[in-house]
Formats: sequence, C-alpha cells, structure tokens
Amino acid sequence: MIKIAPSILSADFARLGEEIDSVRAGGADWLHFDVMDGLFVPNISVGIPVLKSVRSYTDMFLDVHLMIDRPGRYVSAFSKAGADLICIHLEADTPEGIHAALREIRSLGRKSGLALKPGTPWDAALPFAEETDMFLVMTVEPGFGGQHLMTETLPKITALREAGFGGLIEADGGIDEAHLPELIRLGLDVAVMGTALFHHPDPARLMAEIRTMSE
Ligand code: DX5
Ligand code: ZN
Repeated sequence: MIKIAPSILSADFARLGEEIDSVRAGGADWLHFDVMDGLFVPNISVGIPVLKSVRSYTDMFLDVHLMIDRPGRYVSAFSKAGADLICIHLEADTPEGIHAALREIRSLGRKSGLALKPGTPWDAALPFAEETDMFLVMTVEPGFGGQHLMTETLPKITALREAGFGGLIEADGGIDEAHLPELIRLGLDVAVMGTALFHHPDPARLMAEIRTMSE
C-alpha cells in the first residue's frame, strides 16, 4: 500500500495544528516537512523551532526534507527537534560530506534519506545505497510547491528498483490524484502531496480514493 505524506508547505501555518489533525484523521501515513535555506534552493521555509512545535503536537512520522547547503551541519539539530527521517540532497555537498551526513543520521537513531534533483542521474545515488533508508526522486525542481510534475523523472523510480535498492522510494513535487495510478504501478512507496491535498475540498475523501487505487 502506497504511503501518503502530506507536505505542510501547502498548509495554512496559522492553523497548522488543525491542518495536521485533518490530514491525520483522513488517513495520512507520514507528515512531510520541507526545510529551505534560500541558498541550496531560491526560497526559505521553516526550520528547527517549527519542527519542535510539530513534534510536541503530533506523534505522526515526521519526514524531514532538508533542501539546505551542506546539511551535515544541521542533522543533529533536526534529529534533536524530533525528525523521524532526515532526507538530505545529493547535490548539497561533496560525496564525502554526504556519506558522513548519512552515517550520522543513522547513528542518531533516525532513518536516512537521499534526494535527487530532476537533473541528477539515478545512478549517482548508488554509491550511497548502503547508508540510505530511502531515496527521494524529486519530480519538480525543489524550492516551491504547486509546480507541475516532470514526467521525465519517473523512470528513475524503476531504475532504482531494478538496480536492487531494497529501501523505500519516495517521489515529491506536483503529485495529484491523476498521477497516482502510474506511481503505484511503478512501485512507489511514498507519495508526497502538498497543493493537491491541502487545497482539495475534501482531503479525507482524496486519501481514501488513493488507498482504494493502491489495494
Ligand atoms: C518542493 C517541496 C515539496 C512541495 C510539494 O520543493 O519539496 O515537498 O511542498 O508540494 P506540491 O505537491 O504542491 O508540489
Ligand atoms: Zn519536499
């Protein structure tokens, strides 16, 4: 069964607790938490204090997507703030820096994730497979919610699977209900949904429909 991870980037931050309650009641599996530093991506979102508040509000699995430069500098702070999974970007540091950060995430007792921008080839991820619990295939350029999914990124899901990666594969960016049948067919484990879910008139009904597709 595919997991749905609502991206709170599309939530109303003034009513964040209610928004979390609503997607949780609707059956969301994880909560996706986007962190942007204005350097690795041309936008700034939320960070450690907001994560701490969310952690104290909910026991949902917190999937923290760090779109920040040299993420190894901050993995321990995000772990302490309550992340369950910390996903860093392959393009955000040297290979040595990425290896070290992935190892540190695991040593802190968290799940590790490695994200690939649309232009990064899937096989660039393979040297990190042993240290990574989840690969995140970005289906838009990271930085903003509400973009269109780039279908040319989807073959990476199949390629990673066929290369024998046994961990989870997540896709993020521009996913709406129309893409779900294809993503399920490709064997995707986790679908991040921001705009399509939070701006839907009935998020609970949408998640129920997705669960039915995935059965
Ligand atoms: C984009 C973020 C996504 C974004 C997804 O950089 O990583 O998680 O919030 O939102 P939608 O589903 O609107 O593309
Ligand atoms: Zn994200």
